[in-house]
Amino acid sequence: MTPLVRSSAGRNLSRLAELRCTVGDQRAIRIAPLWAVAKRYVVIVRGLTHVSDPPAGSAAYSCHGLESTSPAELAAFDRRLSIAEIERRTAAGQTCEIWWLDAQIVHFRWFSAVRTSLPYLGLDFKPQDEDLLLFEVFTVADKRVRGVHSNVALQSLKRASDRGFKRMVALCAWWNAPALRVGEKNGFEVVGTVTRWQLGPFAAFTVSGGVEVRKGMMSVPGPRFDRAGSTRAGGEDRASPREASSTGSS
Ligand SMILES: CC(C)(COP(=O)(O)OP(=O)(O)OC[C@H]1O[C@@H](n2cnc3c(N)ncnc32)[C@H](O)[C@@H]1OP(=O)(O)O)[C@@H](O)C(=O)NCCC(=O)NCCS
Repeated sequence: MTPLVRSSAGRNLSRLAELRCTVGDQRAIRIAPLWAVAKRYVVIVRGLTHVSDPPAGSAAYSCHGLESTSPAELAAFDRRLSIAEIERRTAAGQTCEIWWLDAQIVHFRWFSAVRTSLPYLGLDFKPQDEDLLLFEVFTVADKRVRGVHSNVALQSLKRASDRGFKRMVALCAWWNAPALRVGEKNGFEVVGTVTRWQLGPFAAFTVSGGVEVRKGMMSVPGPRFDRAGSTRAGGEDRASPREASSTGSS
């Protein structure tokens, strides 16, 4: 039987491979033991009232849903995804944008406007009304650092805005410089962090900024939109995603 979600050991191994691929072996050796104890995610938010036009180069990319790609085809790109997990997400009302370039799948991203399980944190995420959670982005391995994510990001924000969403929320591991960089380029702001502390069987969470965790449920309450379409919660100063990554020590 296909497992519903890849086992937690399998998920951790894939995460380790991703860490090595993103930061290189030397930094990965320093980060991995810290990551095993404290998984710290930077929470970034983008208001959707004003989304500028996508760059001209992005017209070469086209977006399709899961109707044109089988779960098996999609799972083949990402070792963390099983077919059953894709089916579970779809049944739960979560949506996948699959981005093509030159008749090839180069990128996909998962969204949810409903309560969503985040197994890598061991929490559920509860979106506010008119929030869209971007809970996974993935560029196929041999197409990375070629501007794929950057090219589709604005188109994707525009699609969400056209569907009536007012805010996009995403989580990035503090060491994931490419994900934070693309967020920064596309107007996401850091609203806080969530850290899962793990000591043997014991787990606890700490949060900062405008992030809340209560009874296994994470939320980012109460946005206010300024004229430029960015979000402000409580008037606090916001760091850019890249600034937040450089302060991530856990
Ligand atoms: C994160 C991910 C989606 C980025 O996709 P991508 O298509 O490679 O992104 P792009 O090429 O558009 O942009 C990457 C940006 O990060 C920068 N970057 C890449 N590696 C970097 C590093 N180690 N340190 C700092 N910046 C880095 C690039 O220079 C580029 O910025 P620029 O356009 O200003 O030059 C891709 O790395 C991926 O799929 N990773 C595995 C899954 C993952 O980690 N998902 C994110 C979960 S939040």
